[in-house]
Amino acid sequence: MCGIVGYIGTEDAKEILLRGLEKLEYRGYDSAGIAVINDGGVSLFKEKGRIATLRDSVDENEQGTAGIGHTRWATHGAPSQVNAHPHQSNNDRYTIVHNGVIENYSQLRKEHLQNVELTSDTDTEIIVQLVEHFAKEGKSTEAAFRKTLSLLKGSYATALLDNEDPDTIYVGKNKSPLLVGLADGVNVVASDAMAMLQVTNEFVELMDEEVVIVKRDKVTIKTLDGLEVSRDSYIAELDASDIEKGTYPHYMLKEIDEQPYVIRNIITKYKDDNDTIKLDEDIREAVLDADRIYVIAAGTSYHAGLVGKQLIEKIANKPVETHIASEFLYNMPLLSEKPLFIFISQSGETADSRGVLVNIKELGHKSLTITNVPGSTLSREADYTLHTYAGPEIAVASTKAYTAQMAVLAILAVDTAHAGGVEMEFDPLQELAIVANAMETLTDQKESLEQVAREYLSVTRNCFFIGRAMDYHVCLEGALKLKEISYIQAEGFAGGELKHGTIALIEEGTPVIGLATQEHVNLSIRGNMKEVVSRGAYPCLISMEGFEDEGDAIVIPRVHEYLTPLVSVLPLQLISYYAALHRGCDVDKPRNLAKSVTVE
Ligand code: F6R
Repeated sequence: MCGIVGYIGTEDAKEILLRGLEKLEYRGYDSAGIAVINDGGVSLFKEKGRIATLRDSVDENEQGTAGIGHTRWATHGAPSQVNAHPHQSNNDRYTIVHNGVIENYSQLRKEHLQNVELTSDTDTEIIVQLVEHFAKEGKSTEAAFRKTLSLLKGSYATALLDNEDPDTIYVGKNKSPLLVGLADGVNVVASDAMAMLQVTNEFVELMDEEVVIVKRDKVTIKTLDGLEVSRDSYIAELDASDIEKGTYPHYMLKEIDEQPYVIRNIITKYKDDNDTIKLDEDIREAVLDADRIYVIAAGTSYHAGLVGKQLIEKIANKPVETHIASEFLYNMPLLSEKPLFIFISQSGETADSRGVLVNIKELGHKSLTITNVPGSTLSREADYTLHTYAGPEIAVASTKAYTAQMAVLAILAVDTAHAGGVEMEFDPLQELAIVANAMETLTDQKESLEQVAREYLSVTRNCFFIGRAMDYHVCLEGALKLKEISYIQAEGFAGGELKHGTIALIEEGTPVIGLATQEHVNLSIRGNMKEVVSRGAYPCLISMEGFEDEGDAIVIPRVHEYLTPLVSVLPLQLISYYAALHRGCDVDKPRNLAKSVTVE
């Protein structure tokens, strides 16, 4: 989703800003822009489309050493050059970039900007016009900025330039993430540390309703009331090489291939010296103490949560409900007496999940976030965090974060079972090591999976995925993966539910991918595959060693039945990847999608 960068130093700002925006491309955007400031004023460049287009439009002779930049994912107003950020106030004195959504923008316009003509359709422009409005009333820029932010309802991360002061960037945030990076005689601003690793790995985190006055040699954090706040910086544990593609053609393929290493990394991180699970005692107690667990997540993380429910209920004997974050707030179930909320989020920034977290905190309930980004909003604001240790996930389509989430959920389930005295013979660390090996066997079979994609998905309009039990949850994920990057209409269905309607969609040659990796439903899902074949479907069955059959398209190595989703999803990820490639789609940056969905 939208990204922000800012730089104030001694070097060519335009180049640093453009490079920063390129690092944020993976989050999804539809237009981009930069503003560079020097003694002569602000130069503004913005374009609809890719950063490469913006780069071409930037004046090579622009020499400013400070500026701000933005990638926009349209919410208010269509993707266009006019709506792209930065936006300027009518007298051109102020220039702003903004992430988030200002909910009361029309009300603010009515109250304060009746006679101001707006140039864009965005909520963002209201912010910059308000700053100008309050500055015209005689306020200093800092005071006008603070006053403006105090009126905003909704979410914002924002950076502002003042034409009359080329040595300052003003930033502010509420609900949307924003960091200030520190270096010698140089300071930067970024909505994601990755964008500015090119300059520094030392960052200061901002809290909601804070502003920062960023100069070359000084950074001052204040509350909206103007009180100074001091905060220690931290070193981002990110290696710039983690976010490079290396020799891979796409991040998605690299991240699919990384899954065996991620699982081994998780084993190491969650193992103590006695080869048993190492988990924070407080988390253990919180889970044990709960009478019901509510898992809240969106998209792929929600699919991991569906598997997590099965794992925790089966292994730890504790009731779990998994909910779609965006629905939970508007359709809240009756809660048990002692609920524990588990938020699953790769980015830790998903606004829908955060909305639920804010609400359940107000109700006084405990929360645990399972995330790939420990310093993220959902991690900071929940009572506890479990890290998925998957490393930065850059491709918009989530792959390694999903399998990592399920691995951590399995560890949590077993730890809860042990702590609660539930007898069991399942050793998750040992079984996860077998999973990592099985994943490797599958990532070595790219040629045959590419062949499946070519044969089944090169020209089709739609595709169905069917499975039962946990295979069904993996089918939902397989279908999501395929539709988001190849734009084939794909749906995952419970095998037994097909004949209650969906089977009407099966025509001659319709691809149906079946999963049969759970022994107790092996025969029944094979029966469902026969039903679709007799109506003309083109079947592709993915089964598991030990109960495979002649004619199965792919046989995956045997792993423990609780952990099959971690392995069975790999062929689906690879088939989606190759299908998108064969259809000429932009795998890492699918249309309309954003990596970190920071608006509701
Ligand atoms: C799909 C995908 C999305 C995310 C969803 C939640 O490949 O990546 O469906 O899973 O937007 O994001 P997080 O996990 O960051 O909360």
